[in-house]
Amino acid sequence: MKLSDNKATMSFANGAPSIELPIYHGNIGPDVIDIRKLYAQTGMFTYDPGFLSTASCQSAITYIDGDKGELLHRGYPIEQLATQCDYLDTCYLLLNGDLPNATERNDFHKLVINHTMVNEQMQFFLRGFRRDAHPMAVLTGLVGALSAFYHDSTDINNPEHRRIAAIRLIAKMPTLVAMAYKYGMGQPYMYPRNELSYAGNFLRMMFGTPCEDYKVNPVIEKAMDRIFILHADHEQNASTSTVRLCGSSGTNPFAAIAAGVACLWGPAHGGANEACLNMLEEIQANGGVAKVGQFMEQVKDKNSGVKLMGFGHRVYKNYDPRAKLMQETCNEVLAALGLENDPLFKLAKQLEKIALEDDYFVQRKLYPNVDFYSGIVQRAIGIPVSLFTGIFALARTVGWIAQLNEMLADPEYKIGRPRQLFSGNVKRDIKPIDQR
Ligand code: CMC
Repeated sequence: MKLSDNKATMSFANGAPSIELPIYHGNIGPDVIDIRKLYAQTGMFTYDPGFLSTASCQSAITYIDGDKGELLHRGYPIEQLATQCDYLDTCYLLLNGDLPNATERNDFHKLVINHTMVNEQMQFFLRGFRRDAHPMAVLTGLVGALSAFYHDSTDINNPEHRRIAAIRLIAKMPTLVAMAYKYGMGQPYMYPRNELSYAGNFLRMMFGTPCEDYKVNPVIEKAMDRIFILHADHEQNASTSTVRLCGSSGTNPFAAIAAGVACLWGPAHGGANEACLNMLEEIQANGGVAKVGQFMEQVKDKNSGVKLMGFGHRVYKNYDPRAKLMQETCNEVLAALGLENDPLFKLAKQLEKIALEDDYFVQRKLYPNVDFYSGIVQRAIGIPVSLFTGIFALARTVGWIAQLNEMLADPEYKIGRPRQLFSGNVKRDIKPIDQR
C-alpha cells in the first residue's frame, strides 16, 4: 500500500481530542482513509451498512470506474479481453496477474481441460435432490460437496493447494452445472470431452445426448465464451465479499465458494438475469409492447415494489461496459438462430429505449446492466431461465477463487469481523413468568 502525504484529521464537536488518520493511494481510483486504529484511539466504530464508502480489502485483480463505465482486469479493458482473448485466458490472467504466453496458454488450457471430470460419487449425491429443485439450490449443495471429495487440496496455507483447488473449481463447474441441468431434465449425464473448447464442452454436456453426436455451433460457442468472460470477476461485489469473509475463517476453499454461490442466487445480484427474463415474459403475457408504458409507470411508483430488472448498478453510474458487449453478442446469436423478430427481444429493446430517455432513469443514472442482455442470449441458446444464475456462478467461480487466494496470500489478512451499532435492549433482568 502506498502511504499518501495527505492525512485525514477527525475532530469532534464535544471537544474530545482530534485524531489523524493515514491515507493510502490506490494505483487508480479513490484513496482510502485507514481507520483500523480508530476504535483503539476513540472508542468509536464507523457505520456503513451496505459498504457504501468502505474498502473491505486491497486487491490488484479488478478495477471498475463506475462513472466512466470502465472495467479492467489486471489493467486490461474488458472490451479487449472479450474480443481478443477467450475465457480460459481470462482465468489465467485473473489467477496469475498477466496473460499467458503461447506455451503457458497451451499448458493452462490442457491443465483445466484435463480436470473436467468429477468424482463419480457426485451423481449419487445429486440423486438426493428433488428433480424440480432450483438449480442454484442444487449447485450450492454440489459445490459445497466438493469439499468432501478433494481432501488433498484444502490446506489454505499451502500455495500449491490453493492453485490446485482453483484449477479444480474452474474445470469442474461446467460439469456440475450441466449435471444439475440433466438431472432436472431426467436425461443421462454427459461426460466431458477434452478435445472440445471450454465453452464447447459445456454446450455438449448441456445439450448433447448419448443417442447422437453433438455438433457445437461456433456462434453459440463464442457467445457462451463471451458470457463467461463478461461474468468472470467484478471486484468486491456481494458474492465475492461473501467468499472472502467466509474464507477468512480459514475454512475449506470449496465451502467458501459454495457460500459465494448462495449469495449470488439473490435477485439483486446474480439472480437478476433470471428475474429480468421472468419480468419480460410477464409483460409479454400481459399484452407485450403495448403494455410497456403501463409497466414503466409501476416501476417509477415507489409503492409498487416493482423494479426494472437488469437496470441499475451499485457501482456503474454510466453504461455497464459488459452490457454493450453482451448486446453485440445478443444481436449475433439472434441473427445466427433466425430469432431477430423474437418478441421478447423487441420488448427488451422497447424497455431499454424508454428507460434511457425517461427522467426517472436518467436522473438516477440507471443504465442496463449485463444481465439485461445475458438472459435473452441464454434463452436463445436454449438454456432454461432457472439455470441462468448457475451459468453466472460457473463463470464467476474464477473471480471468487482468484480473490480468495489473493486474500489468503495477503500478510494483512485477518478474519473478517464487522462491528455494529447496537439498538436493542440494554441489560435487564428476567422477570418471573407471571410478571412478564
Ligand atoms: N428499477 C427502478 N428503480 C431503480 C432500479 C431499478 N432497477 N435500480 C435502482 N432504482 C432506483 C432506486 O429506487 C433509488 O431511487 P430513489 O433514489 O428515488 O430512492 C435509486 O434508483 C438508487 O438505487 P439504489 O437501490 O439506492 O441503488 P443500489 O446501489 O442500492 O442498488 C441494484 C443497485 C443493482 C441492487 C439496483 O439497481 C437493482 O435492484 N437493480 C435491479 C436488479 C439488477 O438488475 N441487479 C443486477 C446487478 S448487475 C449484476 C451483478 O453484479 O450481480
